Amino acid sequence: MTRANALPAPLTARPATDADADLFRTLRASVPEASQPSEAAHAAWWAWAAERRWVAEAGGAPVGVLRLGADGTVSIVLAPGARGRGWGAALLRWLAGEARAAGVPRLRAEIAPGNAASRRAFLAAGYALTDRDRGPGRRVVAERAP
Ligand SMILES: CC(C)(COP(=O)(O)OP(=O)(O)OC[C@H]1O[C@@H](n2cnc3c(N)ncnc32)[C@H](O)[C@@H]1OP(=O)(O)O)[C@@H](O)C(=O)NCCC(=O)NCCS
Repeated sequence: MTRANALPAPLTARPATDADADLFRTLRASVPEASQPSEAAHAAWWAWAAERRWVAEAGGAPVGVLRLGADGTVSIVLAPGARGRGWGAALLRWLAGEARAAGVPRLRAEIAPGNAASRRAFLAAGYALTDRDRGPGRRVVAERAP
């Protein structure tokens, strides 16, 4: 991590390893609107996915997970006890710096209707919420240049 792309204390981020696969599955299960893959499906996704993954930590303890697809798709899940402290927005800003360094041309996320915390975190991290997928029950699309 470069100094220019540092996270605010006490947050740090490190690349995920295979030992973190269960953490990603556990945190996904904490998101009510997310589909819940079987153990086998999760293992297959873990082995296959062409994306960068990080574990966010506070004081050395895991507090969340981040993903960045080769196509610029962004995903973030914080542990329930780590939400609402500004960490989501800070991590999304940091992730944009990582994407810039990796040459990813455009960042994009889909946000479920009613997920106000996610909408506000992406807005605070410099994303624009696009209109084109809006409508009853439709996902909001958040986009920004890295
Ligand atoms: C979405 C998520 C990453 C946001 O991170 P966070 O650290 O909780 O959010 P922040 O503390 O940075 O807050 C960002 C903004 O949302 C607001 N906010 C936080 N929780 C909120 C809630 N439950 N309802 C409404 N607004 C909320 C904050 O006040 C802040 O607003 P501001 O920018 O006007 O100050 C986190 O809540 C999370 O992991 N949620 C479950 C998984 C998920 O929904 N992931 C995103 C899928 S697209």
